[in-house]
Amino acid sequence: MTTMNDMENRIKALREELERHNHAYYVLNAPTISDYEFDQKMRELQDLEAAYPEYDDPNSPTRRVGSDLTKNFTQVAHRYPMLSLGNTYSKEEVREFYERVGRALLGEPFEIVAELKYDGTSISVTYEEGQLRQAVTRGDGTRGDDVTANVRTIRSVPLRLPANAGCPERFEVRGEILLPWTEFDRLNKEREAQEEPLFANPRNAASGTLKLQDPRIVASRKLDAYFYYLLGENLPGETHYENLCAARRWGFKVSEAMKVCQTLQEIYDFIDYWDTERKNLPVATDGIVLKVNSLRQQRNLGYTAKNPRWAIAYKFQAEREVTTLREVSYQVGRTGAITPVANLDPVLLAGTIVKRASLHNADIIESLDLHLGDHVFVEKGGEIIPKIVGVDTDYRETRAVGEKVHFITRCPECGTPLVRPEGEAAHYCPNETGCPPQIKGRIEHFVTRKALNINIGPETVEDLYEAGLIHDVADLYTLKIEDLLRMERWAMKSARNLMKSLEDSKSVPFERVLYGLGIRYVGETVAKRLATVFHDIDQLQAAPYETLVAVDEIGERIALSVIEYFKDERNQTIIGRLKTYGLQMALAETTEGDQSDKLKGLTIVISGTFAHHSRDEYKAMIERNGGKNTGSISKKTDYLLAGENMGPAKLEKATTLGIKIINEEEFLNMISE
Ligand code: IVH
Repeated sequence: MTTMNDMENRIKALREELERHNHAYYVLNAPTISDYEFDQKMRELQDLEAAYPEYDDPNSPTRRVGSDLTKNFTQVAHRYPMLSLGNTYSKEEVREFYERVGRALLGEPFEIVAELKYDGTSISVTYEEGQLRQAVTRGDGTRGDDVTANVRTIRSVPLRLPANAGCPERFEVRGEILLPWTEFDRLNKEREAQEEPLFANPRNAASGTLKLQDPRIVASRKLDAYFYYLLGENLPGETHYENLCAARRWGFKVSEAMKVCQTLQEIYDFIDYWDTERKNLPVATDGIVLKVNSLRQQRNLGYTAKNPRWAIAYKFQAEREVTTLREVSYQVGRTGAITPVANLDPVLLAGTIVKRASLHNADIIESLDLHLGDHVFVEKGGEIIPKIVGVDTDYRETRAVGEKVHFITRCPECGTPLVRPEGEAAHYCPNETGCPPQIKGRIEHFVTRKALNINIGPETVEDLYEAGLIHDVADLYTLKIEDLLRMERWAMKSARNLMKSLEDSKSVPFERVLYGLGIRYVGETVAKRLATVFHDIDQLQAAPYETLVAVDEIGERIALSVIEYFKDERNQTIIGRLKTYGLQMALAETTEGDQSDKLKGLTIVISGTFAHHSRDEYKAMIERNGGKNTGSISKKTDYLLAGENMGPAKLEKATTLGIKIINEEEFLNMISE
């Protein structure tokens, strides 16, 4: 007979086992179990937890996906203040530090631990009785934000520690939360498509992500965490190095790039080695941290008002070159935002040839006091896009340069005087309905795969616009085969394809239509959120400001933009027309009517996480459409419905067996055709 105790034990055993596999995968990069088995065990645990809520535990591995319980952060006082480090920029200053320490220790021998300085956002995590209790940001050093729910989603942060590892009853571990370069690039690509402001560097992206109100979005961004400092009573070792090694044994990600140095020369060698080698790391670093190894010596050295006397940071030089500014050009985006771009004489910087640099906005141009022909310094620090950090004013004294760069006052495309909304750094062309790049940009956005998925590219949009056939997104649905055939390069086949694609787009779900409208700041995630909360376009249109900002993740900026959009009669007309053409302007109700046999006889495996629907919803959709959903891939599988974060083992198996892999859009198309 199964007793309650058995259940509790089974739940506990599963939790421990899953965390062990998480550690092997995310910290050690050495998986110990197949993705399939992992999924199965996770599924079992989820089911048991649902059935036995009395054994709930906020540190269960099932919580890693993020729950939606939090809103805003509570401020918490740090038990030990979070100090920053003094910075040095030269080996000379490192030597001064080294000698200072030696003098203060009255000639006693000492060791220095050299570590990488990770360039993210710092975090202090408290563990009690081997359990993660609280994670707090640095804040002002004395108080920080309690971001525990978000930190729980970071797979490399242990939720519970091994029982017999000898960790103290209570301790704090400090480290850096980072967004790996690959994730950073992916996120910025997504934001670029949205014309949302890009994150300048992974550090901003990491701290922005950590402060999001919805842990589910945090979970989707794949943050990582490296730990470098242990605090508390009864720490295992007498030295910093021993403590970090213990932390590594307990399951924390502690960098391998860590060296106990006996001499100044060893420190210099470490600096030189990592100054180049760091470019191969998956995360951003901006220097080296040097710490006195002995904890007793650390205590003797003590603190100044702001920094420990026993540690210092050495910052790497950002790579910088000098080149000539030739011209400033201006790009007009879909939302009318104007981006100034510096055109430069090509120069080799950090391994790539740089010809252009972003100038961001009018204020930056003004503060640099740019003149054409100036010799400018370009830098690539943590930033992806090189930036101009200064002007060589000495050069100007010896050589005449060209005229001063003034930000344009009129749109380079349509001549309309530009506006700059209060509180914003960017200038905009307000001629939304008459400025060609804005009109074409909106249509291009509407037809993209993630929006209405209409089978045309930017060149076709351009041709149709030039031919006077389309001025807004609704015009697409008035296109006729005859119109197309009269144009160059159009044949019956391509014309029919476009017609079919337009017809198909009428069953694209409401949230993608909403996204396709291109309301400023309404990206895919926000569109989905709005659709879920308001159900249809009429209710969204009628929602007052207060109702909008009460929705999670919808801030003032988004709310105002939504209101602004619906206030405009031209937009109302477009929406009215889209409705008459039959586009989905409401969430689909799941009714008996949704049943079909489109997937009859097909076996589909679902893996990963998805943007549009949950896994359970996809499972239900497969079943409603006559298909069969199974958990594991075999020869009998017809399709693998693959989302984000899908395990490599599953992918490999599917590829080996030649199983067709589809993404969620393709799946949704399959059942909407
Ligand atoms: S030790 C009291 N070690 O750099 C010593 N900090 O200004 C506490 N950082 O706020 C810091 N890598 O966010 C330490 N290996 C490392 C680090 C590191 C990055 C950050 C940390 C800190 C800042 C120092």
